[in-house]
Amino acid sequence: MQKYSNRLKTENKSVGFVPTMGYLHEGHLSLVRRSLKENDKTIVSVFINPTQFGPKEDLARYPRDLKRDERMLRKIGADTVFYPTAKEMYPKPYRTYVNVDCLTDALCGRSRPGHFRGVTTVVAKLLNIVKPDVAYFGQKDAQQAIAIKKMANDLNMNVGIKILPIVREPDGLAMSSRNSALSPKERSYATVLHKTLLLAKQMVGKGERSSAKVINKMRALIRQEDASRIDYISIVNPETLKPIKTIHGEALIALAVYIGRTRLIDNLKLKVR
Ligand code: PAJ
Repeated sequence: MQKYSNRLKTENKSVGFVPTMGYLHEGHLSLVRRSLKENDKTIVSVFINPTQFGPKEDLARYPRDLKRDERMLRKIGADTVFYPTAKEMYPKPYRTYVNVDCLTDALCGRSRPGHFRGVTTVVAKLLNIVKPDVAYFGQKDAQQAIAIKKMANDLNMNVGIKILPIVREPDGLAMSSRNSALSPKERSYATVLHKTLLLAKQMVGKGERSSAKVINKMRALIRQEDASRIDYISIVNPETLKPIKTIHGEALIALAVYIGRTRLIDNLKLKVR
């Protein structure tokens, strides 16, 4: 991969890069399509990164089907799929990690200690290997996107980081590889994440400015679904990720909810004049 990316550099080809953990869906493909539009070559990585999963998390259950991913990528014209093995990425003994302070403590970082350290480490490694001009990420993982932007900036990485909007199913559920683990019943419950975000948006639209009041209403709506358990609901400053009490200017409403055994996340950015 490094030889190939070096060659693309000498040929003056612009390279767009989309890192993924595979089991692709339209959310991933939206990033690939954008890269295809904006670059000479598009490289997609498929790597289920073990360092971003906690010991009790769903690494073993994480869905995988490389043949299917390859077919989907070929169909839309991606140039290269890079799928290293865990042994290649983390030769033993592996010792070096990248950690973004503060931004990764709250929200998903609180319930998944070590998760973002794994994410920023693997993304730093992938960027060093692929050496893209631009790398594409989804707003679906809002905190991840912010941490990666900060890492690229703080470490003077010579790469553009672009964050693209959340792609949703027709009923509003944010697309995710993890959705495939939901039973039909759970799948119908899962729409509650987006519904609660819309409820929050509506409340703010009608003039509500208290984060606590909005969050309480969101909690109540989610509690109506038996199969669900709230991990967190937060209203934060979209740059610092610090909680805000009174909603004004830009706000990010983010939540994580277990539907059965599957942990789903979603978020919405609001602008209040
Ligand atoms: P994965 O969950 O496979 O997602 C790969 C990329 O697709 C991420 O940037 C994610 O935000 C984006 N994405 C996922 N669902 C989306 C949706 N519904 N709409 C728009 N974009 C979406 O995120 C990871 O993998 C990993 O943490 C990774 C960055 C690859 C590091 O291992």
